[in-house]
Amino acid sequence: MGLRDRLMKNEPSTGSFSATVPRTPSSRPATIPNANPDAYHELKHELHQKLVEKLDMQTIERLPRDQLRDELRLILNQLLAASDLPLNRLEREQLVEELLDEVTGLGPLEPLLADTTISDIMVNGFNTVYVERFGKLELTNVRFRDNAHLQQIIVRIVSRVGRRIDESSPMADARLPDGARVNAIIPPLAIDGPVLSIRRFGGSPLRVKDMVAINSATPEMLAFLAACVKAKLNCLISGGTGTGKTTMLNALSSFIPEGERVVTIEDAAELQLQQRHVVRLETRPPNIEGRGEVLARDLVKNALRMRPDRIVIGECRGGEVLDMLQAMNTGHEGSMTTVHANTPRDALSRIEAMVGMGGINMSETLIRQTIARSVNTIIQLTRGTDGKRRITSISEITDMQAGVITMQEIFKFEQTGTDAAGKVIGQFRFTGIRPRALDRIERYGIDPAEIIKPYL
Ligand SMILES: Nc1ncnc2c1ncn2[C@@H]1O[C@H](COP(=O)(O)OP(=O)(O)O)[C@@H](O)[C@H]1O
Ligand SMILES: [Mg+2]
Repeated sequence: MGLRDRLMKNEPSTGSFSATVPRTPSSRPATIPNANPDAYHELKHELHQKLVEKLDMQTIERLPRDQLRDELRLILNQLLAASDLPLNRLEREQLVEELLDEVTGLGPLEPLLADTTISDIMVNGFNTVYVERFGKLELTNVRFRDNAHLQQIIVRIVSRVGRRIDESSPMADARLPDGARVNAIIPPLAIDGPVLSIRRFGGSPLRVKDMVAINSATPEMLAFLAACVKAKLNCLISGGTGTGKTTMLNALSSFIPEGERVVTIEDAAELQLQQRHVVRLETRPPNIEGRGEVLARDLVKNALRMRPDRIVIGECRGGEVLDMLQAMNTGHEGSMTTVHANTPRDALSRIEAMVGMGGINMSETLIRQTIARSVNTIIQLTRGTDGKRRITSISEITDMQAGVITMQEIFKFEQTGTDAAGKVIGQFRFTGIRPRALDRIERYGIDPAEIIKPYL
């Protein structure tokens, strides 16, 4: 059977290959309608091979896309002339575009990446690609030629950020140029073929306004936090996985005045600070030989030599915490970070334990003193039993007494029950305690009610 026959084998509208590729306003149709997927992939593969034969990969990487497109069109026309394939002009153009994606980009993933409503792309082997949009998983009909093809795309993503993935090192993290976070794991660790997970931070993150609108906090609470940030109090955001810590850090960062120099340190750049004067740093895992690792701690030390006004650390996990506390204490007030903990008190214990992990010999009392002097405001985030994310507490550190850090709670969420549908019932309350932070907020001449206005 010729290529033509195989391409034409499917009756109109039975071709499942093209049916459920997510439609987007911006992206072109992802496949040739009604094409036989196998024949189509074969043709594409053939073209790909021809192109790689004619131009070596390095030339391809360097050639401008337009020139590559012309080159491809030429090859395609030759190939089609020889095999008498029934592709019309539109179909040829589409094939050329897909091949361009193939040789310069991420192949079948490109149309998905072009769709801004997609937040996650999950490739479980060459012919199973899921996407998440608006919080819902969908199976797409996007597919790779085979697992080797998928692995080739994975290698391309990973090698672009100077990392390696192969049988001896079958896991890798990387980042796409647009900031999306990528994880790849391949056989033998992934049993059924390469698995690729792409987490995007494309869409606009939740802003202060949105948090009020969906009742994750009250305007008063956010006004207080805005004032804390403006008055350069050090903030610690605490919460479990997926409670919205990074989102909150992003939102709080929006209160940092323009004109301050902010250095951000993250394991995977997720923060989207709006200020102009932001320097973003990202840690680096060790390479295959176990070398070249750059820890958050190294970056904090380096950041201190960059004349920052504030340092924002995506997540405190370990040895960097002492450097962070010292930075907070020595002229970089108004710094912030997040920590994985379920209560404000728990957050302090975690920080204390992390200082211990740093390998520096400090007495418990000294560690606690350092924390008490450095951290001012603790924001606790919780995901309720109904799945809703809220600020459940805003507390501040007041002092140390008898070797224990003392805190007071300024705002809290009081749950009174759940309704028949399982929705949490409760309300946010001001505890009535005058925040210590107010002294400083007043010294800065800040009126919380006023400064929050532009953000609501
Ligand atoms: N207040 C909120 N209400 C609803 N969704 C939220 C809220 N805060 C964050 N999210 C969403 O929850 C998910 C996890 O948020 P993220 O900030 O990454 O959490 P964490 O850093 O704690 O793991 C994201 O999809 C984010 O958009
Ligand atoms: Mg996070």
